[in-house]
Amino acid sequence: MHQTLVTNLDSGIYTITINRPEKLNALDKMVIEELGAAVDEVILNKEIKSAIITGSGEKAFVAGADISEFSSLNAQGGRDLAHKGQQLVFSKIENCSKPIIAAVNGFALGGGCELAMSCHFRLASENAKFGQPEVNLGLIPGYGGTQRLVQLIGKGRALELLLTGNMIDANTALQLGLVNYVVPQSELLTKTRSIAGLINTKAPLAIAACIKAVNAVFDEKHDGYEVEINNFGELFDTADAREGAAAFLEKRKPNFTGT
Ligand code: COA
Repeated sequence: MHQTLVTNLDSGIYTITINRPEKLNALDKMVIEELGAAVDEVILNKEIKSAIITGSGEKAFVAGADISEFSSLNAQGGRDLAHKGQQLVFSKIENCSKPIIAAVNGFALGGGCELAMSCHFRLASENAKFGQPEVNLGLIPGYGGTQRLVQLIGKGRALELLLTGNMIDANTALQLGLVNYVVPQSELLTKTRSIAGLINTKAPLAIAACIKAVNAVFDEKHDGYEVEINNFGELFDTADAREGAAAFLEKRKPNFTGT
């Protein structure tokens, strides 16, 4: 049981709803701890094939880190906050071998935009707004925003958003490639679940290998082409790759087991 999250597992899809609507789902220490635990659950629970992160209420996905916790911080405290959050939540989401999709249902500002960007991809409702307004507070993003925003929309556009602190609407986010779809708010979870459900019909080890190889593009410690070659090769030793080819040749649907 969580105090700041509502979680639900249905048909292999684990939905994590950040539930502090009165504070626009701002990320305080408790939310970060509980999000970390929820992502651990995604990683460890064999019943979970994919996950969705969304926000409670109609107004906000997440309106940022909880600013009320900032006043007591000094340089070391700020480093610790960013480091702990990145380790506990943001890097763990990005490197999770099961897909984690952001369903952005309103404001995704600061840490909220960073949370959405750490997910494998994003859908937005028509009322969603994105931004990195940290410069308005004399700060910069601390949960990976300076890195992932460049990866997703390019350096010039990322710097404009970071330096102005401006918000963009959902359709602009779509044009920039920050989100994959914009849908009416009432359809956001249905559309996100339908994509997660489709992914859940694929071979889980192949899904994990796709995520690993794509993440390698942005990882200086690995040559992405080598990661692709190795994963491509290793998958030939799996039962699911044999099943996939056999099912195609026998003109039937594959029955993947994740082995
Ligand atoms: N941290 C803590 N509390 C926050 C918050 C945040 N990041 N964002 C919103 N809240 C709180 C507000 O303080 C307010 O609480 P209160 O009712 O106890 O006063 C409540 O959520 C509702 O927010 P409010 O500002 O009244 O809503 P609004 O519709 O007028 O404005 C925003 C919405 C998103 C534009 C505005 O809340 C905002 O700018 N939030 C901060 C965004 C930000 O800078 N994020 C980056 C942080 S690093």
